[in-house]
Amino acid sequence: MRKLSRWRQEIERKLITQAQLARRVRDLARQIERDFAGRDLVVVSLLNGTVMFLADLLRHLPLPMRLDFIGVSSYGEGAESRELIFTKELRLDVRGRDVLLVDDILDTGTTLKRVLAKLRELKPRRVKVCVLLEKKARRVERVRADYVGFSIPDLFVVGYGLDFAERHRNLPFVGVLRPQYYQIG
Ligand code: IMP
Ligand code: MG
Repeated sequence: MRKLSRWRQEIERKLITQAQLARRVRDLARQIERDFAGRDLVVVSLLNGTVMFLADLLRHLPLPMRLDFIGVSSYGEGAESRELIFTKELRLDVRGRDVLLVDDILDTGTTLKRVLAKLRELKPRRVKVCVLLEKKARRVERVRADYVGFSIPDLFVVGYGLDFAERHRNLPFVGVLRPQYYQIG
C-alpha cells in the first residue's frame, strides 16, 4: 500500500472537496460571464493564493479578456495577516475598463481594501470582486465581494492555492490545518 500522504499529519480534515470546488467554480464563471458579457474585461488576480482557483475559473470563462497580476504579501509568514507589501505592480492599463479582481480569501478585509483603493486610483469603469472563500466572522474592514465561492467558519484553511507559511498550496482540496501547526507562541 502507498504510504500515508504527508499532508495527513498537518491537515485535520477536508473542508471542501475537489468535486465541490469544481462545481462551484463553474457556477461562479457562469455568473461572471453573464455580468461581463460584451465588456472589455480585465481580470486582476492577487498572487500567490489564487493560482488554482484562477486557472479553473478562467478555463470556464469564454469571454474576451486580458489578465494581469498584483503581488501582495503580508509581511512575515504565518496565520495572521500583518503589514502589506506590494511585490508586483499592475502592468495593464485599466482606465475605463471593467475589472474583475480575484482573490483567494476575504478574511479581515485589509488586503482587499488596500488593493481596491489602489485600483480605483487607476479609474476603471467598474471593479467587481471575486473570492473563492470568505470568513465573515473576522471582517474588520467594510469590504464585500460580488462573487463568493464558499462562506466558511473561522478556521485556518489551506490547499487549492491557499498556504500556511507558503506550504500546502498544491493540495487539490481545501483542508483545515491542525491548530497546533499555527497556534504558536
Ligand atoms: P485579509 O487581509 O485579512 O482579508 O486576509 C486576506 C489574506 O490573508 C488572504 O489573501 C490570504 O493570503 C490570507 N488568509 C486569510 N485567511 C487564511 C486562511 O484561512 N488560510 C490561508 N490564508 C489565509
Ligand atoms: Mg497567503
